[in-house]
Amino acid sequence: MNAPLKDLPAANPEEFRKVVESRRSIRRFTNTAIPHDILDDCLDLAMLAPNSSNLQPWEFFVVTTPALRQKLARACLNQNAARTAPALIAIVVRTDTWAEHSRLAIQQWPEESLPGIVRTYYQRFAPLQYALGPLGLFGLAKKGIGLVAGLARPVPRGPYSASEMKIWATKSTALAAENLMLALRAHGYDSCPMEGFDECRVRKLLKLPRKGLVTMILAAGKRAENGVYHQQYRFERERFVHYL
Ligand SMILES: Cc1cc2nc3c(=O)[nH]c(=O)nc-3n(C[C@H](O)[C@H](O)[C@H](O)COP(=O)(O)O)c2cc1C
Repeated sequence: MNAPLKDLPAANPEEFRKVVESRRSIRRFTNTAIPHDILDDCLDLAMLAPNSSNLQPWEFFVVTTPALRQKLARACLNQNAARTAPALIAIVVRTDTWAEHSRLAIQQWPEESLPGIVRTYYQRFAPLQYALGPLGLFGLAKKGIGLVAGLARPVPRGPYSASEMKIWATKSTALAAENLMLALRAHGYDSCPMEGFDECRVRKLLKLPRKGLVTMILAAGKRAENGVYHQQYRFERERFVHYL
């Protein structure tokens, strides 16, 4: 939505607070299925998450069929959330789609004329930023250049390696995961993000792309009466919030 200022919806922190505060990690679900159109809407909202260079380095593998779900639940170490959820969503990070998505960003630019700076960004700067080259050598060269140039002025400090690319893609994908959990809650459904799973088995079961990395598996459905295990708590804010 590209709304002029006057068309922005009125801010409604109370509705937002309801969604955020009522989201909990749910460990037991009822067997009520999530309607397909609601799942679709939640996934669309997930993909509106902010993401690095708008390169959208994520994928979502939705499993609702009982046979595959059961196998996937086993790969999630038979956690209650995985065993009882009517939908399991593997949220996958892609470190290898940035080049194709750079092309798409140019092709699918939403306005009539593509600004030159946008074309230059995706054609010239994105490859400089994200390519690592054979054996990661281009990444290493970038790191060396960055170290020297960085003595005199601010420079980007990566991603310079395959593991830094995983962090790069995971940041954006985790934001999409949070959007997805909040969207489910806004629709009256619940979720539990899980990193307790056997990644090798999950990759095989879902036939994931070679360079796909499973960041989380989201159990989703309607919370059962005994779905919340304990009261929500966080440590004191002074530990985390620093006004400078
Ligand atoms: C990356 C990540 C991985 C998690 N993995 C699991 C998991 O494998 N199993 C589980 O029951 N909960 C898992 N959780 C849920 C956390 O335990 C939960 O978010 C935390 O205890 C706070 O509770 P709340 O979500 O109800 O506020 C995970 C959460 C995140 C963000």
